[in-house]
Amino acid sequence: MSEIAFLLNGTPVHLSGVSPTRTLLDWLREDRALSGTKEGCNEGDCGACTVMVTDENGSRALNACILFLPQLHGKAVRTVEGIAGPQGELHPVQAAMITHHGAQCGFCTPGFIVSMATNHANGRTDHDDTLAGNLCRCTGYAPIIRAAKAAEGAPVPDWMQTDRAFTLAQISSGGEAAGRGGQTAPQPGFRPRSSDELADWYLANPNATLIAGATDVGLWVTKQLRDLAPVAFLNGVTDLQQIERQGGMFHIGAGVTIAALRDFIAPHHPSLAELLRRYASEQIRNAATIGGNIANGSPIGDGPPALIALGATLHLRRGDDMRSIPLESFFLDYRKQDRRPGEFVAGISIPERAPNLRCYKISKRFDQDISAVCACFNITTEGGIVTEARLAFGGMAGIPKRATHAEAALVGKPFTETTVIAAQAAISADFTPLSDMRASAAYRLTAAQNLLMRYLHDLNGTHVSVLGVTA
Ligand SMILES: Cc1cc2nc3c(=O)[nH]c(=O)nc-3n(C[C@H](O)[C@H](O)[C@H](O)COP(=O)(O)OP(=O)(O)OC[C@H]3O[C@@H](n4cnc5c(N)ncnc54)[C@H](O)[C@@H]3O)c2cc1C
Ligand code: FES
Ligand code: FES
Repeated sequence: MSEIAFLLNGTPVHLSGVSPTRTLLDWLREDRALSGTKEGCNEGDCGACTVMVTDENGSRALNACILFLPQLHGKAVRTVEGIAGPQGELHPVQAAMITHHGAQCGFCTPGFIVSMATNHANGRTDHDDTLAGNLCRCTGYAPIIRAAKAAEGAPVPDWMQTDRAFTLAQISSGGEAAGRGGQTAPQPGFRPRSSDELADWYLANPNATLIAGATDVGLWVTKQLRDLAPVAFLNGVTDLQQIERQGGMFHIGAGVTIAALRDFIAPHHPSLAELLRRYASEQIRNAATIGGNIANGSPIGDGPPALIALGATLHLRRGDDMRSIPLESFFLDYRKQDRRPGEFVAGISIPERAPNLRCYKISKRFDQDISAVCACFNITTEGGIVTEARLAFGGMAGIPKRATHAEAALVGKPFTETTVIAAQAAISADFTPLSDMRASAAYRLTAAQNLLMRYLHDLNGTHVSVLGVTA
């Protein structure tokens, strides 16, 4: 029996002896001669490798370069070769791209077509956001966006509907060798179906690599050429993908994707949702999980500062032992977290309400960029006096961190410009940021201080969004 089965452009595929870290992109191009899916960056940045992946949760655009074959088990994959109809009929987005002159060199075009077809199938019209992860260096975005708009009203072609009716049981049994990658490392990877299965296995294999969305781990393979075995794929652990509401709190499973979290959280914490809109790209948000964003311990991740500002509780599990800690105490030092061997992130809990939460992301580009500074603030006031302050930053230290001196300068004081100026000065005692290619130390410190003043104006109702700035 095959270990991995999925539908590729409408045709069942069975793979045995597949290397767990063989990427879909390499397999498509090297083993299937489906070279329409391009390799640009091989690190999730450019979208040239975009494929459409459909399962019971719907269709998503994903980057094939950091998508491992075992992650596709039970799903339907559509590459650019599968976007036109069986008789060569053009998909509405393909026709519109021709009419609106949406391609010049054409290298980016297959990725755009797949992203646009996925958005079209999902009825998405926020083209600036959904196409921000597809980079075009010569045509420019205006004709492409015009094409996407032109295709909006066209019905979804019949041949694009079949993937949604697909179930694994429809694939007849059989198998084929997985090609070069499969021959060198025939380990399929562990694919638990529940967190209980994961807990038992990880306790017995504490040196294993857990792979959730693979938006970090994928690069360890494509850029660092690391051998990660043994590995466990978490994308089938559905009980970690739930969001529950209980006792004034949201309990968010570690396997919830950034895209799903953004959709859910928007009515409750709009500023966090806006931050997540600028988290990487559509393709990355569709894959990346909040658990992976926390567990990787990056000092420049966008999730932790917002969650720390919200006072999130982190839930960790090792075998049958569960423990819960304040999220900020999880981050001990640069890339060092309070996580024991065999212990994994099960989820987080955050309050349902935090009307004063504001999240600000400073990066060189508005879209698809890593934060130079990410600042998330959440104060409580009574009668104009600050009773609690949570000021959390990314990009200012080796870990996501609260500005405790600045918080102390706020608490017990009226929330006014004078108080904020004192708190701004205190931020210098909280952080000694680094200079790197994203920002200098001086820029980071000044930006962090200015963001606190922006927060005051924001809570006072002044319009502070840079999107509101017009020439
Ligand atoms: C092009 C690009 C742009 C990006 N932009 C941003 C950005 O704007 N903001 C940002 O914050 N991040 C960004 N990232 C980083 C990345 O998307 C996030 O860190 C992401 O949330 C990781 O989640 P994942 O599910 O993909 O984790 P994976 O890559 O699968 O895993 C990451 C780490 O977490 C571990 N892990 C995963 N799940 C668990 C678990 N449940 N328990 C314990 N350990 C676990 C893995 O073993 C690994 O060490 C970007 C990445 C790329 C490639
Ligand atoms: S090749 Fe650039 S995102 Fe995959
Ligand atoms: S058409 Fe050349 S990169 Fe887009």
